Amino acid sequence: MEEKSKVNTGVARTGIIVSACRALLNSKFLEMVRDKKITVENFEIRNHVQRVLENGVDLHDTVLNRCYYLDESQVNVYDPYADFFVDTPDSKGIILHISKALQPVPEKVNDFLEYIENEPNIVTWSQVMSRSMNLKLAFRTKYIDDMVIKDSKTFEQIVILASGLDCRSRRLPIPKSCKVFELDFPEVIDFKLKILSIADQSIERISQCPITMIGGNLTRDGWMHDLKDKGFDCTKPTLWMLEGFIMYLPPTEIDPLFEKIDSLSSSGSKVMVHTITGSELETCIKNGGSPSSSPKLMGIQNMEWFYIANELISRHENPVKDILEKHHFSKDCTSVTDKEIAKLYKFPKPDILKTFISRYSIGYKE
Ligand SMILES: C[S@@+](CC[C@H](N)C(=O)[O-])C[C@H]1O[C@@H](n2cnc3c(N)ncnc32)[C@H](O)[C@@H]1O
Repeated sequence: MEEKSKVNTGVARTGIIVSACRALLNSKFLEMVRDKKITVENFEIRNHVQRVLENGVDLHDTVLNRCYYLDESQVNVYDPYADFFVDTPDSKGIILHISKALQPVPEKVNDFLEYIENEPNIVTWSQVMSRSMNLKLAFRTKYIDDMVIKDSKTFEQIVILASGLDCRSRRLPIPKSCKVFELDFPEVIDFKLKILSIADQSIERISQCPITMIGGNLTRDGWMHDLKDKGFDCTKPTLWMLEGFIMYLPPTEIDPLFEKIDSLSSSGSKVMVHTITGSELETCIKNGGSPSSSPKLMGIQNMEWFYIANELISRHENPVKDILEKHHFSKDCTSVTDKEIAKLYKFPKPDILKTFISRYSIGYKE
């Protein structure tokens, strides 16, 4: 087995967990295309998917089962790179850890561990991940994908803070006029580059944009210098993306982070910040997770947000207008919740998900 990096522990591992959700969604996407339930507008993506389907792909039932009702909605997301991140020893290590934490029936522990060892990672992820968590990730990915596709036509720079294993800069039709900068811890960037060097051999990039990856701790100062050093231009309006990030920061780190973003932003820059709503998270914890849990394999509980609740240390009850205003992103502030996104994309049963813990707030710099 390959040597494991630190990417499978601590907050760095959450990038793999999110990737696993996206990999599960891929199967649904491929099924929907195969069954002609959706048509793929982008020419390159359509060709890629056609090739994957022609080569034959195993769409495991347990995986498809995670993504119910998506075929009745306009929520379709496709991240072929996620499959590569999931198919790694680091990913298996995380599943093992999660499975133990989710307390399988004691007498079935060994059966379950054997199952994890023998099945493809994507299948075991599908047994661990709750449908609800997976669907919420689908809404989030679709909403942000559409924002990036639209904004990359006008912004010349996108900075993705805590980019994790997000591969929008490769898999979306971003023009070459728009530079993308991705920042995360060095170990995450190293892991990403290593796996992408394999994935790039079989996946053709859809985007044309220059991509720059920078390793660093975003609660320190060094990244600002590195960003400028690598071609970021403070005089040009920037789209800042903070998806799945500030909830992991201590509250005292949030203002300093936004001060830095403000100091690097020219007028017309835009921030998109994803936050977790504390009261919804508490309800989710109280309800014991997903109301839409699927039958449990060997007694395993489904993974829900409560599994990492103690790591989600910064929670916000309302759109973070105060933070945006304080740091001069007070123009045209808007915000949308998971539930609103579900409705926007015509997800037929938004109420089955009960708790909607995510919110996405936007503001422009005056
Ligand atoms: C849940 S993942 C989200 C990744 C990506 N934005 C997405 O939504 O797919 C959280 C990411 O935040 C990164 N992160 C958290 N704190 C950080 C810090 N202080 N500096 C750099 N990266 C950080 C982690 O390494 C991880 O990749």
